[in-house]
Amino acid sequence: MLSSIMRHSTLRTVAALVATSACTRAFTPSSVCAAAPNVPYINSKTAAAIDVSLMDPATSPSYTLPQLMELAGLTVSTAFHKTYPPNNFRHVLVFVGPGNNGGDGLVAARHLKLWGYDVTCVVPKLKDEYFEKLKRQAEDCGCEMLSEEPAAGYASLLTSETVIIDSVFGFSATGPPRAPYDTIVPFLHSTSAPVMAVDIPSGWSVDSGDVNDTKYSPDSLISLTAPKTGSKGFTGRHWLGGRFVPKRFEAEFGIKTEDIYEGAEMVRELTTTSDDAYSVVYVTAPNGDSAQSIASELVSTKTVACVNIIPAVKSVYAWKGKVETDDEVLMMIKTRQERVKDVEKIVKKLHEYETPEVLVVGVEGGSEEYLKWLGESVEKKTKKDKDEE
Ligand SMILES: *[C@@H]1O[C@H](CO)[C@@H](O)[C@H](O)[C@H]1NC(C)=O
Repeated sequence: MLSSIMRHSTLRTVAALVATSACTRAFTPSSVCAAAPNVPYINSKTAAAIDVSLMDPATSPSYTLPQLMELAGLTVSTAFHKTYPPNNFRHVLVFVGPGNNGGDGLVAARHLKLWGYDVTCVVPKLKDEYFEKLKRQAEDCGCEMLSEEPAAGYASLLTSETVIIDSVFGFSATGPPRAPYDTIVPFLHSTSAPVMAVDIPSGWSVDSGDVNDTKYSPDSLISLTAPKTGSKGFTGRHWLGGRFVPKRFEAEFGIKTEDIYEGAEMVRELTTTSDDAYSVVYVTAPNGDSAQSIASELVSTKTVACVNIIPAVKSVYAWKGKVETDDEVLMMIKTRQERVKDVEKIVKKLHEYETPEVLVVGVEGGSEEYLKWLGESVEKKTKKDKDEE
C-alpha cells in the first residue's frame, strides 16, 4: 500500500547493472546449464582401495602421497573459495587431524592464506616428518599455528567472519575420537560457525552417516574422488573434487571420472537444486529511478537473481478511506525463498512509501536451467545466518 506523503522526495540514483527486461540475458549456458551430475557413492573399503591403487608401486604408474595431498588440498581450497569468498568470510579456522585428511587441511590452509584469507590452524599432532614439512610450509606462508586448545576454549578463536574447515577425520576413521580430538569433535558438533567438512563430517560413520545422532550438520562438504555412502544424508552445499584419477578407475571401482568437471575447474557442485524453493516478490515503486535504485541494491548484494521493472502500471487502491489512483512501476523480483526476509528488509530501508507493497508468491516450477541460474545467482544463507534468525 502507498502513502503519497513522501512521493516526491529525490532518490539517489545508483549506477545500475540490473536487467530491466528478460533476465535470461545474463544467463551463460556453457557454465551453468548442466544439472548436477549423478555420481555413484563409494564405501570406505573402496575409498581405501582407490588410495592403494593410486600409490601402490606394483600398479604402474604410482603416485606419491605428497603428490596426492597437494592435489587434494588444492581441491579443498578451491571448493572453499567458491563457497566462502574472502570478501565475505575473512577468517578460516582449520582443524587438522592426525592422518591424511589433516594433511589436506594443511595444504588447503597454505593456499587460502595466499588467496587472501586470515588462516588459523589447530594442529595437535603430526604423523611424521612429511606432515611436519606441510605445517612449516603453511606457517611460512603466514598461517597461524596452534598446537593445543586456548585456555578460553576453541570458541575464543571465532570471529564474526570465521568459517571452519573440518579436516579432522577422513574415510579411514573408526571408533569414537581419542584425545586430543575428543574436545575438537564435540566443538565442531556444537559450534554455530559455518563448517566445511573434508570427505566426511568428523564423527559420522564413513559408511552409514550420523549413526550416533550427533546432529552435526556442516554447512558444506567437499568429497574427494567420490562421495562416501555416509554422506548420502548430507543436506548442505556438496562439492566433488579429485580430478586427477585415471579413467580406468571407472571400470575398476565404479566411480565416475569424466563428464563431471567443466573447463579447467577442479571441483563440481553436486548440490541438487530440485528441492530448493524460489519465490517471486512483487513491489511497486513511484517511478523508474526509485525502482532502479532498489533493484540495484537487491541484485548487487546477491539477495536476488533478477528484477524485472515493468513501467507504467496504474494502481487503484483504497487509502485512508479514499479511492486513490496512481501511476507507478512494478518490480517483479526473483529470488530464493530463504532470502525473502532480506528482500523485505532492503525494500523497507530504501523505499519512500510508508507501507510499501511486498507481496510474495511461491514458484511452483520452471525450466531446470533457469532455476539453476536463479539459484546460483542468489547467495545462499549460511548455517550461521539461519541460527542468528
Ligand atoms: C558410535 O558410538 C559407538 C559407541 O560409543 C562407537 O563404538 C562407534 O565407534 C561410534 N561411531 C562413530 C562413527 O563414531
